[in-house]
Amino acid sequence: MPGFRSTVRIVGYGMTPLGKLRQPASVLMQSALEKALASSGLQLKDLDGLIAVPSLSHPHFMEAHFLATKVGLLPQKNVTVRTLDTGGAGPVTGLLEAARMVRTERCHAVAVVAGDAVASMDTRSFLERADAGCRDPVAPLPSPCIPHGYDRVAQWQLEMGSVTREQLAMVPVLMSRQALRHPLALTRVPLSLDEVLAAESIAPRTGRLECARRADGGACVIVADSEFVDRRLGHDARSSRDGIASPSLGPAARGGGVVLLGGGEASGPLYPPPVIDEAMFSCEQAAASAFSEAQLLPQDIDLFGLYDCFPICFVRALEACGVAPRGGGGAWVEEMHERTSSTYAPADFPINTHGGLLAFGAPWEVPAMYNIIEACAQLNGMAGARQVPGARRALVYGNGGIFSHSAVAILAKPV
Ligand code: CAA
Repeated sequence: MPGFRSTVRIVGYGMTPLGKLRQPASVLMQSALEKALASSGLQLKDLDGLIAVPSLSHPHFMEAHFLATKVGLLPQKNVTVRTLDTGGAGPVTGLLEAARMVRTERCHAVAVVAGDAVASMDTRSFLERADAGCRDPVAPLPSPCIPHGYDRVAQWQLEMGSVTREQLAMVPVLMSRQALRHPLALTRVPLSLDEVLAAESIAPRTGRLECARRADGGACVIVADSEFVDRRLGHDARSSRDGIASPSLGPAARGGGVVLLGGGEASGPLYPPPVIDEAMFSCEQAAASAFSEAQLLPQDIDLFGLYDCFPICFVRALEACGVAPRGGGGAWVEEMHERTSSTYAPADFPINTHGGLLAFGAPWEVPAMYNIIEACAQLNGMAGARQVPGARRALVYGNGGIFSHSAVAILAKPV
């Protein structure tokens, strides 16, 4: 595929459980890294690259260096580690950067790791840190700043008439229905529209159940040159293509892993501008770059992992990624709300099949990694009750800050 060596693959992925885990973020990161390595069949000594995104609960100077030192990857020659901060877009930015490292820096295997423990923080400490990153010194948002920032965008869309208050509240209902099929999801009972609308108000148009569900958790993916993986594990690449599993390959690497077909990124303002208009949004540009690089169209995608920290982010992502027509995201949500109100198959609603930030869980900058991991599980045919039959291509989107950064990647099952 253009721009990407075809042998660059996601060959491993892993995550910790979510919840109030009362462990430092670096412990969660290390645990996720170990699980991802096990799922690939590789070992720590096989890594020559590591990317980490920062943690809010336990910040470290040079997070990736800190983690690499903690696990014993540093000090060592020929290892490159990087900390990337594009907020919640970080895992997708990290995935694209890891692919670049394999493609152009001759790295063999790069781990992309994220972990945080924001549910174990008391609310005051959490909000002090979360607000500090998003409070515009000129026109400060009220606390909690992030929900209020998204609320301003929701208000603008409501005034434009492209979405209704009820349609926004249907988003967590949809995510709660999806989450029921994932054993690790935090939300275990489906929400009703009335419940969401009646929940405690956090900002004028945002109730508690419409906020990213705070969680602790770690997650990791391993990006590698599949020829290196084959050589390292003594595996014959042809047998993989023929579907014959080598005993030394981990389950995520069998069948050749998952291919990255294309990616795109774009940035918006750190703080919502005084007057909101289309100029502040960047997902459209990131998605267009990813589609262009992959030489695909939205209708070629079988499965989407769309950032849903607040309903308005999800509604805009539906439109930016071509799932719904421009201005039609709210109506699309309403239609899905109706369609999934009784028994439905994963293929009827192949979006955030794990439940997204609203219902699976949201450990600060980690959740876009769940979009990637869910896409890999689906493309590998390992998603159990959530499996979208025959899923071949997936789009994943990570969003940082208050629409401040967008990163989109298109993944595929190898042919
Ligand atoms: N669905 C279901 N239950 C939820 C929920 C949801 N979406 N959100 C919260 N709850 C539950 C919690 O699990 C908790 O249940 P338990 O008491 O059983 O543990 C209960 O409601 C209370 O939740 P909190 O403890 O979070 O409530 P709080 O009063 O302490 O804080 C809040 C409320 C200020 C709204 C806080 O939850 C909050 O700030 N949430 C938003 C978090 C956030 O902004 N995340 C970042 C999103 S933007 C992004 O992702 C981009 C980036 O760059 C990081």
